[in-house]
Amino acid sequence: MNTTSQFGSHSRRIGPFDLPAIGLGCMNLSHAYGHPPSAAQAERLLLQAVDEGVRLFDTAALYGFGANETLLGRVLKPHRQRIVLCSKGGLAGETFPDGSIRRVIDGRPETLRRHCEESLRRLQTETLDVYYLHRWCKRVPIEDSVGEMSRLVERGLVRAIGLSEVSAATLKKAHAVCPIAAVQSEYSPWSRNVEIGVRAACAEIGAALVAFCPLARGFLTSAPPDPAALVAGDIRLNVPRFEPVHHAVNRGLLSGWAALAAEAGCTPAQLALAWVLSRGEHVLPIPGTTSAAHLRENLDAERVRLPGALLTRIDVLINKGTVSGERYNPATLAEVDTEQFDQ
Ligand SMILES: NC(=O)c1ccc[n+]([C@@H]2O[C@H](COP(=O)([O-])OP(=O)(O)OC[C@H]3O[C@@H](n4cnc5c(N)ncnc54)[C@H](OP(=O)(O)O)[C@@H]3O)[C@@H](O)[C@H]2O)c1
Repeated sequence: MNTTSQFGSHSRRIGPFDLPAIGLGCMNLSHAYGHPPSAAQAERLLLQAVDEGVRLFDTAALYGFGANETLLGRVLKPHRQRIVLCSKGGLAGETFPDGSIRRVIDGRPETLRRHCEESLRRLQTETLDVYYLHRWCKRVPIEDSVGEMSRLVERGLVRAIGLSEVSAATLKKAHAVCPIAAVQSEYSPWSRNVEIGVRAACAEIGAALVAFCPLARGFLTSAPPDPAALVAGDIRLNVPRFEPVHHAVNRGLLSGWAALAAEAGCTPAQLALAWVLSRGEHVLPIPGTTSAAHLRENLDAERVRLPGALLTRIDVLINKGTVSGERYNPATLAEVDTEQFDQ
């Protein structure tokens, strides 16, 4: 795809946007993996990303219950014309009568309208480049949710529409209502559900497949998390693969993974990203990091090319037979619409 791009042979497209092959997931600057960085550290990381050529910045109303969008709005506003700003609605923190704020999936048109308007305010922008339905709300026909998103496009509030964690069947139903430019789903060597149908369906309709958690939430890197050291609030505490019984099996994969990376002449994290990039010219990873050094390392993965024999050995090492545990706990699995096998 797009070999004449200004971003070289590894570039990617989302709707009208021509992009470098690797974007930045911004979630863990505010949320998810233990203690988030200070505001000053997060700001430095975002500005470094702009300087190092990152163009796609991924956030959501959910992340930090709006705090992540507020951060990006403040820091990236001067660079708005140079970047592709992506956010998500239909899953957000809602305030309950007792004053608590809880995570709620709600894909009703009026809610999506409100979420989008709130995101625009927090992001200090008039238009979102890509706006995703974060989760298909199973109480609302997908046609109704994306119908409202297409009205957001007509109103000039959104340029391209995406979905997250949907099945190929839901994607096709949505695409019949309005063009879907991207699907965002978990995709890494240890989470390959999208290969059942979504990856091909994206290629068929011309949508990008935006791979989230491409580093397996840090597992496939040179600094894999130690489950015993995770602090309260780290969402990996709810991921079965990091539970002791499964992690005891999974950590046995890491020496082989490091050896394959050494053979490829790259780091373990770069091997994961190069693997994701090898899965299709429409596949675009958005690794997340709070570290300047990791950001540089991840962006350098763009130069890694993996020979077919090495890709085969990756498949032999990491596959649904060798990975132990589900990628989500039962409650979270019930929220997603992806075709499921055990990865
Ligand atoms: N649509 C959805 O439902 C959904 C769900 C989850 C995530 N997402 C999106 O996907 C993005 C990425 O996913 P993610 O952050 O959850 O998972 P990830 O990118 O697979 O992994 C992030 C973890 O890896 C570590 N890491 C990153 N680069 C590293 C390197 N080179 N060496 C060692 N460790 C490294 C990070 O720690 P350091 O901070 O120490 O680098 C962090 O703990 C998110 O930011 C979000 O935008 C979307």
